[in-house]
Amino acid sequence: MTDPARLKIFSGSSHPALAKAIAQHAGVPLGALRVTRFSNENIKIKIDENVRGCDVFVVQTSASPLSDHIVELLILIDALKFASADRITAVLPYFPYARSDKKDEARISITARLMADLLETAGADRVLTMTLHSPQIMGFFRRPADQLLATPILKEHFRQGDLSNSVVVATDAGAGKIAGHFAKRLHLPMAVIDKRRVDDSEKAIGVDLIGEVKDKDAIIYDDEIATGGSIAEAARILRDFGARKVRVGVTHAVLSGPALERLRDAALDELVVTDTIPVADEKRRALPNLKVLSTAKLFADALTRIHEGQSVSAMME
Ligand code: R5P
Repeated sequence: MTDPARLKIFSGSSHPALAKAIAQHAGVPLGALRVTRFSNENIKIKIDENVRGCDVFVVQTSASPLSDHIVELLILIDALKFASADRITAVLPYFPYARSDKKDEARISITARLMADLLETAGADRVLTMTLHSPQIMGFFRRPADQLLATPILKEHFRQGDLSNSVVVATDAGAGKIAGHFAKRLHLPMAVIDKRRVDDSEKAIGVDLIGEVKDKDAIIYDDEIATGGSIAEAARILRDFGARKVRVGVTHAVLSGPALERLRDAALDELVVTDTIPVADEKRRALPNLKVLSTAKLFADALTRIHEGQSVSAMME
């Protein structure tokens, strides 16, 4: 049973709107705290209510200014730990440095693992996150971690339209697994783009397509849009191969660098993302086909289940 006196949800500064919506769905008020930023850029956090013996969830996503938000999260967790919170769960809708998950070059840091270490050192007992860039990131935690997928939310959206002539498309072989999962959920075939990255410039080049898309409505499915290069290239290749419509379903709308321009030029029929990262009004205005779906209920259901000791994976089945 949910115990509203013991269940507490606090928000960092990265995405207060999502934290508030999660708290509303969970039926508890957001926890009170004060953040002060000093002239020397030091951050002070004061928890303004008693958390002794409480089951505390801290919502902080990976959004700009990223480094500031990471440090703020660590300080917030530390403050809660020393205020005698019983258990602290870091709720990270978009996990920081998720793409830095492997040592694919000499002398580089696997920074997603470092993030996991820092969370643990600060005092996080658990992690709740959504659609990791790769599932092995779960192995970086030495504490329980739950990964939600945006699949049910995106599936619900696309199911509202006619899917009889559709195909799910993965932007590259790496995205094949999650795209395959999505295709299976929608009972659709899938295709995969052969995408190559040449260097660290974040430029992606699509070179071929495996599967049948001619005269079909393509739904590109991916974990995130950063600079928009992968989606723009996928849209170009799909049109070259004769796709009729190009729609996109993505969990994390990073929308960095030239993303807006690229996505506008890609003339997508629909671009559907979730709110794991705040999408500013000017970005919404720049992309008229953009739809932002809420993840708040899914997070609220998950943290309520964690609080009550119920299965979280059952929600994804
Ligand atoms: C790549 O491995 C990911 O799944 C995404 O396709 C990628 O992060 C998107 O980046 P961008 O929008 O910069 O091409």
